[in-house]
Amino acid sequence: MEDLSNYRKSYEKSQLLENTIPEDPINLFHKWFYESQDFGGVDEVNAMTIATIGLDGFPKSRVVLLKKFNEEGFIFYTNYNSEKGKAILSNPNVCLSFFWHSMERQVIIKGIAEKTPQSISDNYFNSRPDGSKLGAIVSLQSEVIPSRDYLDKKLNELESTFEGKEIPRPEFWGGFLVRPIEVEFWQGRPNRLHDRIRYQLQEDLIWKIDRLSP
Ligand SMILES: Cc1cc2nc3c(=O)[nH]c(=O)nc-3n(C[C@H](O)[C@H](O)[C@H](O)COP(=O)(O)O)c2cc1C
Repeated sequence: MEDLSNYRKSYEKSQLLENTIPEDPINLFHKWFYESQDFGGVDEVNAMTIATIGLDGFPKSRVVLLKKFNEEGFIFYTNYNSEKGKAILSNPNVCLSFFWHSMERQVIIKGIAEKTPQSISDNYFNSRPDGSKLGAIVSLQSEVIPSRDYLDKKLNELESTFEGKEIPRPEFWGGFLVRPIEVEFWQGRPNRLHDRIRYQLQEDLIWKIDRLSP
């Protein structure tokens, strides 16, 4: 067995204290997102893990790209018929997480996902390069396929079909909006005594703030 017990790092870059945080987690998310971007060292600061509960009862997580966020929630795009798409449509409870290692930070968001309105999916789809649009049509995401060749051939066929024409968004492809109900901010600190601040949405729509033991 590979011994990784010497992989050890002390986290000393920052701290997260109650007297410096906003009442609303989206404001703090905004601050941390751009701080991570400006600090550098994270290639895709908008890459996040989304965990879903599958039709088989197992949780599964994978990386997707966050494309928009605001007070309402967090938007990403995918194939609605993919494994994650089917999982979300059957159980919309999901968990998003970000690990911004350069700032020694993690954010974990529990939320409820819903399809974005068609107009939002259309706008985003239309903003993509033609290659990505065709890729979305070609890929029946998460289905078993016979070979790489199969994909390349399908792409070639579609390139000819749509040459000089507008490429429409397929109905099976679009956005999900994740409306947050709980957001946890984790800041690495020395001696494994990290800062953890959790926001929970109350029935009166006020965010309750608690510090959690690391
Ligand atoms: C950096 C990165 C970004 C990705 N972005 C997306 C994305 O925005 N949407 C998407 O559907 N898949 C994206 N993927 C692929 C997913 O991780 C996953 O393989 C795919 O969505 C199929 O997942 P599923 O079979 O669990 O539905 C990305 C993967 C990586 C590594």
